[in-house]
Amino acid sequence: MVLEILQVGAPVLREKCKPVTRFDGELCRLLDDMKETLKRAEGAGLAAPQVGVPIRAVVVDVEEGFFEFINPVFVYTKGEQIGAEGCLSVVGKAGTVRRPAKVKITFQDRAGARHSIVARDFFARAVCHELDHLDGILYTDKATNVHDSED
Ligand code: CO
Repeated sequence: MVLEILQVGAPVLREKCKPVTRFDGELCRLLDDMKETLKRAEGAGLAAPQVGVPIRAVVVDVEEGFFEFINPVFVYTKGEQIGAEGCLSVVGKAGTVRRPAKVKITFQDRAGARHSIVARDFFARAVCHELDHLDGILYTDKATNVHDSED
């Protein structure tokens, strides 16, 4: 099911999200719906609070593949990249954000199993952007020049 993506101003976007503790059918449904919603919106990532659920779960859709990260935690961040960013919760805007060039995170999958992954370049940018959402942070808090986007 395609879910409504909440826009900036919605209080849930500013919440510190709670860890996922139940790896059940409800979580699977939410993740399936988030995937469908992200594909429909043609975005690079979507965090659970953007669909009104303040839990630590995100989906990321990049060149490297489609990923679900539950309870993600940074192991390290390295280097730096500066590039353009937008957000499905801040429609019609873009800005320039400084992010790490490479990150490693640990996370759980929908069954609760633990994994880790290294992400670079745009994938690292997407991971950082989505993990920020779990702490109530929007890219516009960090961007240097938020402006109307062309598309
Ligand atoms: Co976003």
